[in-house]
Amino acid sequence: MPRLIIGAMVRAVGAYPSGWRYPGAHRDPRGDAAVLRRAAEVAEAARLDYLFFGDWLATGHDLEFRDPHLVARIEPLSAITYLAGVTSRIGLIATANTTYADPYTLARATASIDLLSGGRAGLNLVTGAEPRAAGNHGQDFHQANEHRHDRAVEFELVLRRLWDSFEDDAIVADAAAGVYLDPTRLHATDFHGAHLSVAGPLNVARPVQGHLPIVHAGTSPRSRVFAAQSADLALVAVTGLEHAIAIREELRSLAFESGRDDRTLKVIAPVLPIVGETREHAQSIADELSELVQIAEDWPEAPPAAFPATRSLAQLSGLVGVDVSELSPDRAVTPGLLASFSAAGQELVEIVAERTGRSPSGERPPTLRHLVVAASVNASMIVGTADEIAEEFTAWAEAGAVDGFNVLSAVQPAQFEAFAFGVVPELQRRGLVPVEYEGETLRDHLGLERPENVHVTHGLVSPPGRRG
Ligand SMILES: Cc1cc2nc3c(=O)[nH]c(=O)nc-3n(C[C@H](O)[C@H](O)[C@H](O)COP(=O)(O)O)c2cc1C
Repeated sequence: MPRLIIGAMVRAVGAYPSGWRYPGAHRDPRGDAAVLRRAAEVAEAARLDYLFFGDWLATGHDLEFRDPHLVARIEPLSAITYLAGVTSRIGLIATANTTYADPYTLARATASIDLLSGGRAGLNLVTGAEPRAAGNHGQDFHQANEHRHDRAVEFELVLRRLWDSFEDDAIVADAAAGVYLDPTRLHATDFHGAHLSVAGPLNVARPVQGHLPIVHAGTSPRSRVFAAQSADLALVAVTGLEHAIAIREELRSLAFESGRDDRTLKVIAPVLPIVGETREHAQSIADELSELVQIAEDWPEAPPAAFPATRSLAQLSGLVGVDVSELSPDRAVTPGLLASFSAAGQELVEIVAERTGRSPSGERPPTLRHLVVAASVNASMIVGTADEIAEEFTAWAEAGAVDGFNVLSAVQPAQFEAFAFGVVPELQRRGLVPVEYEGETLRDHLGLERPENVHVTHGLVSPPGRRG
């Protein structure tokens, strides 16, 4: 049985648009410290491999409806620094944006966190999809994808060189001889590229892990190449099992072509489990969450200008092939209405039935609102008992679809804890994840070797896991 990597993508106010509205949910970011701390303690007790913090470099009213967790949140490096002090085993991964970050500052901060946490830090490098970030960082416009990736490639090379500034034994600290540093083991970075110019060396000792594990999350072909060549973990967006298998194969062959041992690239998919004591219980949670999502028709006149256009009966009409824009969102989808739907519309009704237990011929048929939400909220949701969710993870592992999952929780803390204390023991029972932490560092948890210092090997930066 393959071993699965299990991390949690922490979103303090929930990872589903209506999660913060669910009864008992955490909703005020001023209370994030306690929620993050509790999540870290729970995740460590459950023996998750890591906690993962995404990032977004702007905010606005539109995010309230689309991704409320992005409106106001703790900055990721601050979050993992805080959590490093209240945990001792779990890995802690922060996202940083290579388009806007300064590599020297980021190398300093991340090397420091790795040293402070005993080698438990990881770094997710993104190029950023939010145009408003430009105005927040003194730039006139958000650069095109190619440009952002060119900079990301340089950025990652520079980070590795900076982390390797000190050889592991460069600080001699020989009190008797009065020798603190061996200057021959301290290396300048001396990088001059099209986008970045960094002298170095870094003024922080080499990280415990040598290099922090690097994650890359993206969807474009350029992003795939970057992940395949440079990342330890590729965080991918997938539509289902078959898609995941295809993406993992593509990433692994790109990694192999680049001269890497492709087994050192771990492919991780996000997933949003809704965990219940019975399947009906889980479906009732998903149903309530779905009913709490606002749609355009909830405003008597027009929704706010920032409201996402996709979340409306007009958009649904295009998908189901019937004009439902004048109907009430609470109109039941009866077998008669269903019969007039397109194949895509019928498929949507099946997805709603699986998630909420509502079917057109049943006692509680779905409404148009359920369909709008299922069509417009982009979430890889699995709804069921802990056992059923563990079964689904097992199927993905056995099919070779992923090396692990980044688990999202719709509602904090209830769904986070239901996963940690319900699903993880089921995965352990199946032998898919270990019962105890076996190593000390995040690299150990991920099954990754500690890299050589690039200045020692050949003065050049090589991708992780180069084939010998
Ligand atoms: C699963 C997943 C998670 C992501 N998380 C973030 C994030 O937290 N912050 C961010 O700026 N971008 C995030 N992204 C976006 C990408 O990192 C990237 O910035 C964006 O997709 C544009 O690059 P691309 O078009 O080359 O993929 C994520 C992408 C995926 C697939």
